[in-house]
Amino acid sequence: MATQATDRALLLLLGVPGTAKSWVSEHLTAAICGTSRLIVQGTAGTSEEAIRYGWNYALLLAKGPSREAVVASPIIRAMGEGRIARVEELTRIPSETQDSFITILSEKTLPIPELNEEVAARKGFNLIATANNRDRGVNELSSALKRRFNTVVLPPPATIEAEIAIVETRVAALGRAFEIPAEPPGADEIRRVVTIFRELREGVTVDGKNKVKQPSGTLSTAEAISVVGSGLALAAHFGDGRLSAHDLVSGIGGAVVKDPVQDAIVWREYLETVVKERDGWKDFYKAARAGA
Ligand SMILES: Nc1ncnc2c1ncn2[C@@H]1O[C@H](COP(=O)(O)OP(=O)(O)OP(=O)(O)O)[C@@H](O)[C@H]1O
Ligand SMILES: [Mg+2]
Repeated sequence: MATQATDRALLLLLGVPGTAKSWVSEHLTAAICGTSRLIVQGTAGTSEEAIRYGWNYALLLAKGPSREAVVASPIIRAMGEGRIARVEELTRIPSETQDSFITILSEKTLPIPELNEEVAARKGFNLIATANNRDRGVNELSSALKRRFNTVVLPPPATIEAEIAIVETRVAALGRAFEIPAEPPGADEIRRVVTIFRELREGVTVDGKNKVKQPSGTLSTAEAISVVGSGLALAAHFGDGRLSAHDLVSGIGGAVVKDPVQDAIVWREYLETVVKERDGWKDFYKAARAGA
């Protein structure tokens, strides 16, 4: 709201990947300005042209620099149309290139010196960026750039009930989108997946009694959603159409074990010390042991 009311841009930031940054940014831009398509995907190879403008060289050679020969970036288009542009994975963009955003955000204009012109942003122009601060290969934002953003951190869901509800709704939507011919998963199966993810993420069992070792990977809600989603697809096509522990174990194992040595030990220890002892989790323990 502060972003909408002022001219500061919005940055969705967080520790772990998969907390719906991109999803929130996409829905916000679509809701505010009618399109979520004006997007710059940040990568280590993102160049200034992708943020500012490039040239259509054939036209440039034929006619010399002209407005026609300018290839506008999504950012320039958003400025011209007074819409919101999205920048995905801002921190993956090299620092020198990130600097281009400083002028855009402070002046709200973009000079095109070759034409002795500038593109001025129409009212309504703004940026929504997503970034990650806990991944390898990210470039810290300069404080000059940081200052131009309102920063919102998206944490993983606070309570297990909230997380279960999110997984349930998203999996139901995915099941419809992919036309998976399976029964929607039972609340119990989802609770089990979410419980495992939360315990490993937080390093303690939900009852708070036992410590568990944490694996190296990030066990986000997005991953829980995809584990249940792929389990559902397995159940539909190779099982009896009902999500069972058997359909889930390989997905969970794959999500947890990112480092084949360290994480495998963590996962096995978790199975033996937590899963094995838990009431009603025998089937899961057996399926996981068979798969391990
Ligand atoms: N809290 C949440 N509420 C609703 N959906 C969620 C939530 N967390 C994750 N998801 C789901 O997870 C999926 C992936 O999220 P998204 O791609 O937006 O994550 P991200 O934070 O951008 O991850 P990355 O850092 O990898 O880019 C989305 O489709 C979204 O539905
Ligand atoms: Mg994203």
